[in-house]
Amino acid sequence: MPEWGHQGPVALPSFDGASASSDSRLNGCSYLNEQILLVAPETGWQAQVDQRFSEDQVAPKWTAMYAEQTNAPDEHFFRLRRDHALEFVLKHTVEGDLVLDLGCGAAPVVAGLLARGRWCIGVDHSLAMLRNGSRRLRAQGIIEDHLVRGDSVALPFRDQTFTSVLCLGVISYLKDYTRLIEEVARVLKPGGTLMLTFRNMHRPVLSDPWEILARFVRGQPLRDGRENGNWPGRFLDPGRVDRDVLEAGLVPLGFKGIGYGPLTVRGKEVLSGPVSIRLSDGLSSLFGRLGLGWPEHWMTDVSIWMYRKPS
Ligand SMILES: C[S@@+](CC[C@H](N)C(=O)[O-])C[C@H]1O[C@@H](n2cnc3c(N)ncnc32)[C@H](O)[C@@H]1O
Repeated sequence: MPEWGHQGPVALPSFDGASASSDSRLNGCSYLNEQILLVAPETGWQAQVDQRFSEDQVAPKWTAMYAEQTNAPDEHFFRLRRDHALEFVLKHTVEGDLVLDLGCGAAPVVAGLLARGRWCIGVDHSLAMLRNGSRRLRAQGIIEDHLVRGDSVALPFRDQTFTSVLCLGVISYLKDYTRLIEEVARVLKPGGTLMLTFRNMHRPVLSDPWEILARFVRGQPLRDGRENGNWPGRFLDPGRVDRDVLEAGLVPLGFKGIGYGPLTVRGKEVLSGPVSIRLSDGLSSLFGRLGLGWPEHWMTDVSIWMYRKPS
């Protein structure tokens, strides 16, 4: 068991002196103390992202979707992504290993890992998401705080702290995600693992037969027209993200794609949520049984890359 054990209020000794925890008692909501925060400057970009993940906008949705079986296909895909992340960490760590969930949101993964004996810290920049995460942990009976407000591009941790890092659906919200990747490479222990997920920019086109036809007729590539944009929440090119991570010195462990569809025509969903979900799950298991990798790589909504830091 790590020295910052599970009982009572504790400070996390693995943080830097300048970090969030140097003088904090990480119980309750003490991480919300403004004096201990290490946060990004409120630039236009980050302010926009924080606004999006506020209580007025999507924080309630990102909290509720993990507590109930909603019918929206993307929410179903995000629950599968969470399950895959839990499986990944359990496979690559042992009890007592330290895990970081970077951009943890409302802490569904932190909660799941703590329940399974892994020691996990969640970092997020949105106070609303952290508050929801804190409530989730407390509901699970976890009294000391495993959540810290911070900026994913300047992490308040020492080099080589974590055995595994998860970063689910965060890099699309950064102006320059390569800085996040460098930070992850820094805080990972040699031999440690990373799971990085984002939404695949090819999926919106490849799940719309009308769009495929229109592009074919116009002689346009089968790509999401938004690939050149740089806006918070953009979909990304899996090939390009992979190249950026490899450049940071991590080595590949594998790829997984989650979620076919939903089927659209001219951008409008044509099937009900439950039917789309059943269809997606059916296609996943069919392609899996046939051993077909390319549909998963190109067509699924959520791209998951897995890496290891060389020992
Ligand atoms: C799409 S949500 C995903 C949340 C969580 N990983 C999950 O799978 O439920 C993206 C999260 O990234 C966080 N985020 C955005 N920019 C960030 C930054 N610069 N540093 C840390 N977290 C950030 C947001 O606040 C939000 O909680």
